Amino acid sequence: MNKATAVSPANIAFIKYWGRNISELNIPNNDSISMNLSNCLTTTTVELSDKYREDEIQLILQGNKHAGTRSLADKRTIKQLDRIRQIAGTHLKAKVITYNSFPADAGIASSASGFSALSLAGTAALDLTLDKKELSRLSRLGSGSACRSIPDGFAIWEKGVDDETSFASQLKPVNWWRLVDIVAIVSTEKKKASSLSGHALAKTSPYYSRRLELLPKRTKNILRAIKRKNIGLLGQTIEEEAIDLHLIAMSARDPVFYWNGATIGIMKSLREWRSEGVEGYFTMDAGANVHVICERKHEKELNRRLNAIEGVQYTIVNYPAEGARLVEDHLF
Ligand code: PMV
Repeated sequence: MNKATAVSPANIAFIKYWGRNISELNIPNNDSISMNLSNCLTTTTVELSDKYREDEIQLILQGNKHAGTRSLADKRTIKQLDRIRQIAGTHLKAKVITYNSFPADAGIASSASGFSALSLAGTAALDLTLDKKELSRLSRLGSGSACRSIPDGFAIWEKGVDDETSFASQLKPVNWWRLVDIVAIVSTEKKKASSLSGHALAKTSPYYSRRLELLPKRTKNILRAIKRKNIGLLGQTIEEEAIDLHLIAMSARDPVFYWNGATIGIMKSLREWRSEGVEGYFTMDAGANVHVICERKHEKELNRRLNAIEGVQYTIVNYPAEGARLVEDHLF
């Protein structure tokens, strides 16, 4: 085989990866915990062959396989291909076509789904069989959060101290807890500040060292909440964690503000709705869009209410999902 296709989910972090201990290896300063998202998927086909003179990388535009393609002169993608080639000991060039199930402009981090899909498809195309730990480590080098899209369901990325020891593993399987993540899209602008610069700036916030002190207790609470399926504890802790991430960003030098008016509108509404018994909790990544976490019984009502908020363009409903996997259906 010299061609392979992988599908991989984005993931939402309940405890965030923000700030790096060893930047070149994406080794973080803290453990993080996440859930894979069933409706935010990247599909990637990789073919390596001597018929290619250069790496050719194309992104199929927004949710429509026939809408045309865009060339991505993406250095990070080529760097990841180089890592894969190095493992296999080959110099073959690659053709890569990649397709996101969610709109490319939705401002949802596609680096986690993208780099995990690329790592699995690329290694499979070269007949390398990496175990999940090795794949998670390799994906991490492409984009830190991608390492958590390898295991199925709920994942924990233990920070480790070096390349060998920093990887994600499964915390609980897909069917462990019927949680829902309703992503409310309030901005489709391309992010002004990439997460790469965010990681680098984190330590310039005077509150970053305090964050690292508080995290062990918060991480324990998330672990306990998932183990006991305690939505109240999970919700309270993810909200605290999301605010902390944005506090660090807003107090960095230079400060980065990711929220917009609708982001804050949703945060306030969720509090009101909870007092009426409709229980949903927010978290955000490095962007304005809001992930609302709830149990299945509140999904429909929350989705309806979110879509009625001014500034919400649409929502994407996700359930816990499998991690990166190979599929037979190639994109070319
Ligand atoms: O993997 P990166 O470098 O795109 O960083 C992801 C950062 C956050 O999405 C904000 C947090 C996380 O843990 O996913």
